[in-house]
Amino acid sequence: MTATQVNEHGQLTHLLQLEGLSKAQILQILDTAASFFNPQDGSIVKKPVLRGRTVANLFFEPSTRTRSTFELAAKKLDADVLNLDIGTSATTKGESLLDTLQTLQAMHIDMFVIRHKENGIPQYCADQVGPRTAILNAGDGNRAHPTQGLLDAYSIRKHKGDFENLTVTIVGDIRFSRVARSQIAVLNTLGVKELRIAGPDNLLPENADDLDVVVHRNLDDAVRDADVVIMLRVQKERMDSDLIPTTDAYFAEWGLTKERLKLAKPDAIVMHPGPMNRGIEIASDVADGPQSIILDQVTNGIAVRMAVMSLIMSGRNSG
Ligand code: CP
Repeated sequence: MTATQVNEHGQLTHLLQLEGLSKAQILQILDTAASFFNPQDGSIVKKPVLRGRTVANLFFEPSTRTRSTFELAAKKLDADVLNLDIGTSATTKGESLLDTLQTLQAMHIDMFVIRHKENGIPQYCADQVGPRTAILNAGDGNRAHPTQGLLDAYSIRKHKGDFENLTVTIVGDIRFSRVARSQIAVLNTLGVKELRIAGPDNLLPENADDLDVVVHRNLDDAVRDADVVIMLRVQKERMDSDLIPTTDAYFAEWGLTKERLKLAKPDAIVMHPGPMNRGIEIASDVADGPQSIILDQVTNGIAVRMAVMSLIMSGRNSG
């Protein structure tokens, strides 16, 4: 049976993708994340809603931000956390994903956080684990990275306010980016005034013109008068062949420089999900400049992941 991520009461039971979540459900996640910040000093509070529960991180692809912030989030909710090192696990001896999952389930895991290079693996795992276990997608192939989309929406709302007034531009390798897909889903559901994507033709999705976005094939046009500029990494690891001529040529045409950023609104913010390739998609003085909120995105990721885990647990407890 195909598992769904929302139960009959509209409560989250897995997080597999942002497509299909309502505006109210997304706002509930963002509001719950906001409640984890101490208004006095901006620190993230602890709340023991996962006490006695166990969260397992299964990262079949590398990660710094997502894996670390999921671990911190689970610990701030008082869960026990298991980080399986895939590189030294029995996966290297040929153990299948399903056998790995079932082996860990026998250790009474309540939530799996899964990153995998193949599209659809989190859904496959949700279909396998049964109703007592939750699956959280930490990025599958080029399909979805839902907690990244959520933390980006949180960060935009925090710095720029109502989505209905905003022009948001996503630039770079959209075609291979699971982040872009989740950003497009969440920002359209939240009702941004204008959502733009921009990149070279061979790094735009094949269905670019069918998406609910304005497509630009020129960076200056894409950035002009934007409130938010999101730069994306060129994902060479997902390309069969080299789709960019040289990194210098890419930067000349598609890199965000201080000069280009002046085309955006004067109070525009610059975002990047990380990891950044400085000098390829973004200049260092922009990444480290006053309009950049790139490191704040990382901090917000802890609270957003706490929100997702706590809402899933409350959905499961009351379901
Ligand atoms: N943004 C993101 O997914 O970063 P990591 O690969 O470091 O987790």
